[in-house]
Amino acid sequence: MNLISDRTALINTENAFKVGPYIVALENAGHKVVKCNLGEPDFPLPAHVREEVKAQLDKDNTHYCDPQGVLGLRKAVAKYIGDARGISISAEQVVVFPGGKPPIGLCQQTYCNPGDEIIYPSPGFPIYESFIHYVGAVPVPLHLREELGFSFNGADLEKLITPRTKLIYLNFPSNPTGGVATPEQLEEIADVIQRRCDPNVRIYSDEIYENILFDGVKNYSIASIKSMQEKTIIASGASKSYSWTGGRVGWAVFPSVSEAQLFKNLNINYFSCIPPYNQEGARLAIESPESEKSIAVMIKAFVERRDFVVDALNKLPGVKCKLPKGAFYVFPNISGVIENLGIDKAYAAMPEEVRNSTSPSTLFQMFLLWNHLVATMDRKSFGQIGCENMHYLRLSIATGIEDLKLGMERMANAINDAAGFVKFIENKEHFS
Ligand SMILES: Cc1ncc(COP(=O)(O)O)c(C=O)c1O
Repeated sequence: MNLISDRTALINTENAFKVGPYIVALENAGHKVVKCNLGEPDFPLPAHVREEVKAQLDKDNTHYCDPQGVLGLRKAVAKYIGDARGISISAEQVVVFPGGKPPIGLCQQTYCNPGDEIIYPSPGFPIYESFIHYVGAVPVPLHLREELGFSFNGADLEKLITPRTKLIYLNFPSNPTGGVATPEQLEEIADVIQRRCDPNVRIYSDEIYENILFDGVKNYSIASIKSMQEKTIIASGASKSYSWTGGRVGWAVFPSVSEAQLFKNLNINYFSCIPPYNQEGARLAIESPESEKSIAVMIKAFVERRDFVVDALNKLPGVKCKLPKGAFYVFPNISGVIENLGIDKAYAAMPEEVRNSTSPSTLFQMFLLWNHLVATMDRKSFGQIGCENMHYLRLSIATGIEDLKLGMERMANAINDAAGFVKFIENKEHFS
């Protein structure tokens, strides 16, 4: 008899949580690591939100509450999401979750039977792919196109749709690329969905970075396009907009009240409810005009850092980096570095079991971390299926400009350190 169920072996993970202990090990050994791996804004929780949470705690708002989410927050979400997208939403369609992450897997459980196909962006947030085998569904990665600013068009999607397609993930602004679809691309995508998909196919539009946009770009939601709201789940939350990843408040708007009720029941089964004092903090964050100011402060810093980092990366031999339009990541193509440092050859010479646990971009990520003290994320951490021969890194710009300057110097050193890379391989350590 096996201790652990077969299903458990099928779930994957988010590697961002794996790099943290490596950084701690390096710091404990006395090194300063430049942290370009972080998926959270490096700003404090805005004071007005903090004060509201404190006031709620003082009121003893610390008990069980509505498993669907407190009504005040659901009303605020319905109005905010609806107004920004030009659609009408009722509070009964909104479900609050402990963060933006839980509805990703819960939607796969709720909408997909074994054998159903799930289309998701690759590179993309790793949890989309991580859950698919776990629920017995079939992963269908939609490879984002660098030349389209890491977006895709209607024809790219159309090729992947079959009668088994059940759920389609979209994520703009995108993690890890910072890419944003143009309104024209979204129109094409919506047109393909209307023509080719059964009415019961659901679109999961992950808009958690909806407020972190640069250069005057707006958040275009597929739900704003005619007849799309009735098949789209709009997901967002407090983690990124209000620099509040530890608050664990996220939400999703469902196409119908009856679907929302199913997710309320999942909340009852898994969580009972989400801390009410944090939900009230999130309600205030959405409603307060102060939030526009705290978001503007973050955006100003992200733009300055983005411009610096993209420029610095594009000066490095073997690196090409697009200018992201949103989120707080840059996603350089490092194919030239992989070739120049001989990483592809070193990888090809490794035993199969080692190769399976790493990739050329992982080897550079690890070399950069352990030998040059810059923490980044590799391409493989953002969807593994079909990513062979794709050589990218994700660098987070949620790190102060002085650290980013140091990080770019260190990266330039790493790229020129062919001898160091040979030693790194010879040491047979830290390959993943
Ligand atoms: C695209 C995307 N969706 C969802 C999440 C999950 O956010 P949360 O921390 O609120 O669960 C993240 C976090 O990095 C993300 O990048």
